[in-house]
Amino acid sequence: MRHFTHVDQFEPKAFLDLAKRGLYLKENPGDVKQNGLSVVNMFYESSTRTKVSFELAERKMAFHVMNFDVSTSSVNKGESLYDSVLTMKAIGMDVAVIRHQNSEFYKNLCDIGISIVNGGSGSDEHPSQCLLDLMTILEQFEDVRGLKLAIVGDLKHSRVASSNARLLHKLGVELYFCGPEKYFSESYAQYGTFAKLDDIIETLDVVMMLRLQLERHKKNHTFTEAQYLREYGLNNERYQRMKDKAIIMHPAPVNRDVEIQSELVECEKSRIVKQIENGVYARMAILEWVKG
Ligand code: CP
Repeated sequence: MRHFTHVDQFEPKAFLDLAKRGLYLKENPGDVKQNGLSVVNMFYESSTRTKVSFELAERKMAFHVMNFDVSTSSVNKGESLYDSVLTMKAIGMDVAVIRHQNSEFYKNLCDIGISIVNGGSGSDEHPSQCLLDLMTILEQFEDVRGLKLAIVGDLKHSRVASSNARLLHKLGVELYFCGPEKYFSESYAQYGTFAKLDDIIETLDVVMMLRLQLERHKKNHTFTEAQYLREYGLNNERYQRMKDKAIIMHPAPVNRDVEIQSELVECEKSRIVKQIENGVYARMAILEWVKG
């Protein structure tokens, strides 16, 4: 039984192959394998993109799809995640796609007898986002090795940054981390260098912006939104200094005019909408891989 829980479970080439499979399915949608398995989507944290694209991928692959509504479930009576997943297995589910606030939620679920797919765990991992991000980079650059990529913003709270740092470092990407220095930590230093975006923007191939995750911040900010955009965000002035073929990424949802100037969200260099589009095919590749 296979579980898709964290990027380090894959050798770099295997993850790259999965991204290429996602791109293949995008070009050849008729080649998707149909099946009669059952999948349940269990989102304990809010989601638009991940939840809807997993569900569309599941329906395109002819899964029986169930959506577990946490707000009306027996979670309200104190049922643990383990017992809810055990229940899903007993009911007959084959795969559970789970988003949860606990970074390690999947660790005690993998022996229940149902395939676990991580749809985002705390501030630590978002492996399906990482896969669609890699697909998006591969659409622009044939080889990721040696690319210069900066992950910019709320590093401390971002599972997208964390998964991408682990994976892209292994693939030979030259990584930089930018934004408020207090959000940079030793856990990132092992993968790349802290820098001011202004000092490196002309050299970058990929500028990966992060959402300021206000819901995970424990205390009030010492900056206003306008100050954040001016000091750390991607504004028009910085955009003008980017290389011709450089691209902008952002996992979304976007705080417009906070981490990125609103009109840049859909500008020529932006791949933000493309990332969302690729999410469906990334999740098809994941579900196909999980089935084995
Ligand atoms: N990027 C991402 O995970 O978006 P959602 O929270 O809307 O799923």
